[in-house]
Amino acid sequence: MSDPLPHPTSLVQRLREAQAEHGWLPRPLLAGLAGELGLPLAHVEGVASFYRFFHLQPVGRYRILFSDNITDRMLGNQALMADLCRRLGVQPGVMRADGRVSVATASCTGLCDQGPAMLVNHHQVITRLDAERVARIAELIEAEVPPAQWSAEWSRVDDNIRRADVLLGSALAPGEALAAGLARGPEGTIEEIKRSNLRGRGGAGFATGTEWALCRQAPGDQRVVVCNADEGEPGTFKDRVLLTRHADLVFEGMTVAAFAIGAAQGFVYLRGEYRYLLEQLEAVLQRRREAKLLGEGILGRDGFDFDITIHLGAGAYVCGEESALIESLEGKRGTPRIRPPFPVRHGYLGRPTSVNNVETFCAAAYIVQRGSAWWAGIGTPKSTGTKIHSISGDCERPGIYEYPFGTRVETMLVDCGARDTQAVQVGGPSGTCLSASEFGRRICFEDVPTAGALMVFDRSRDMFEVARNFAQFFAHESCGFCTPCRVGTELVVRRLDKLAAGRGSRHDVEVLYELDKLMHGATHCGLGGAACNPLRDTIAKFRPSYERHLKSLHFEPGFDLDAELSEARAATGRDDAGAHLESSHE
Ligand SMILES: Cc1cc2nc3c(=O)[nH]c(=O)nc-3n(C[C@H](O)[C@H](O)[C@H](O)COP(=O)(O)O)c2cc1C
Ligand code: SF4
Repeated sequence: MSDPLPHPTSLVQRLREAQAEHGWLPRPLLAGLAGELGLPLAHVEGVASFYRFFHLQPVGRYRILFSDNITDRMLGNQALMADLCRRLGVQPGVMRADGRVSVATASCTGLCDQGPAMLVNHHQVITRLDAERVARIAELIEAEVPPAQWSAEWSRVDDNIRRADVLLGSALAPGEALAAGLARGPEGTIEEIKRSNLRGRGGAGFATGTEWALCRQAPGDQRVVVCNADEGEPGTFKDRVLLTRHADLVFEGMTVAAFAIGAAQGFVYLRGEYRYLLEQLEAVLQRRREAKLLGEGILGRDGFDFDITIHLGAGAYVCGEESALIESLEGKRGTPRIRPPFPVRHGYLGRPTSVNNVETFCAAAYIVQRGSAWWAGIGTPKSTGTKIHSISGDCERPGIYEYPFGTRVETMLVDCGARDTQAVQVGGPSGTCLSASEFGRRICFEDVPTAGALMVFDRSRDMFEVARNFAQFFAHESCGFCTPCRVGTELVVRRLDKLAAGRGSRHDVEVLYELDKLMHGATHCGLGGAACNPLRDTIAKFRPSYERHLKSLHFEPGFDLDAELSEARAATGRDDAGAHLESSHE
């Protein structure tokens, strides 16, 4: 299929291609791209510098990125990375003098059920790392063996489906849901989705039928359907498995949405870490075109034209936020937009755009085929149907579990073989941390909502270190657009590092509370708003973990309250910053 992207919008993809060819992005190359796309060089440089997978300085011909999620750490990634660096004589984040290799970390690569994991040259994944694999990898790099010739077994990615329910356990023939949608008509399809009370699986839980209706009704004649496959929330890997095992179903759901909304153009925004899935996804798309399930006159219906392009991300978690995702699709930096207007009215290139999660499209396809009553009969009244969970951490059987909404956390812990569990992080770092007294709670929008991650921590884990890893994640992924998030996330990391080094006092915990309050209402997008969630939960529920790191229970001698307050004010731009601190000091 010819690339439907107008040229400037293809910038991010062009940068990826250029880097895949040259290894990094030297200035003359950027200047060439700028000329070709009719863009100022400063714009091209600004976009390239935004994404972590683009390199404006030379990097090693072998670029190794260790996944650095908390579950990778629990599986020993830090010692393995130190070992690899020692064997290769390289410092983390610094290219070796001969230009052969660089080793660094990436946020979660979506392989938590089979970590520790690494990415090689942004293209190849290696799972289940251990000391032996690391030693062999060092030898292969020294011998300049291309990664494509390394053991295929190392790149094996298992689906690990442990519990299948109606989505993972049934089969839908390609075109079946689409035929049901055509029979219902666009309005009838939207009504069916509304009646099912399907809520988006990407986190916010917005009613999918309402979103499609708003998009259909929005002024404009070129509508767009986007599948959000950015899956950047640490601990989440269910979309990886849906795209691996059920790509047809995902594309079917997107095509049903296109029919209902009246869209001719579709995108899958695939996170860069899942680059290894690209060829097989393209092959499924091609098969669907040949079967008349994509392209012009789908299933013989005149005027029903729709096709899907896969757009690869480049290592920016914030691009999972729907408006940042759209900016990235347009070839720009992934800075979240000011909303309203919402994407359903003003999305990709100003066109009405519906952005939905991978799992949402799968559910929608089934609902259109089997009917809303069937779906609404599963789960709870406000959370209908099933939810797919990615379970990882301290359990015997990490992997994918599909449950009806309303299932209790304790049931999931038994099923995955968790023992002596101290805490469960539901929904990734942006979600909720539950302590043992809360394991009777239910996963649903009425109680504990989730985008699909469930990380298990047994009693040997230091919950302070868990919170510190999450804080590092948010500071690393803040896009830097607004001050409270950019500075606030860094200040949180600094405080936690101080506590970890044994130099902190109770005052530091107070400041952390304060930073949470200040950031909560003052940030531009959900990333900054959620950045302190793990901190708040763990301080409240696992206070002893923090106390163990406190140097003293009082303010340290020489503590300068004024300096602390002006730091908090500078961070947030709010004059009331630190009011709580002042009163507690008095
Ligand atoms: C920082 C941030 C990251 C997000 N990442 C994702 C993601 O990886 N996948 C996803 O489906 N939604 C993600 N979302 C939510 C999307 O903005 C959006 O709500 C979702 O794609 C809508 O799809 P749904 O209605 O099917 O849930 C993220 C939101 C924020 C604030
Ligand atoms: S809250 Fe953070 S991620 Fe969101 S726009 Fe502001 S700086 Fe960027």
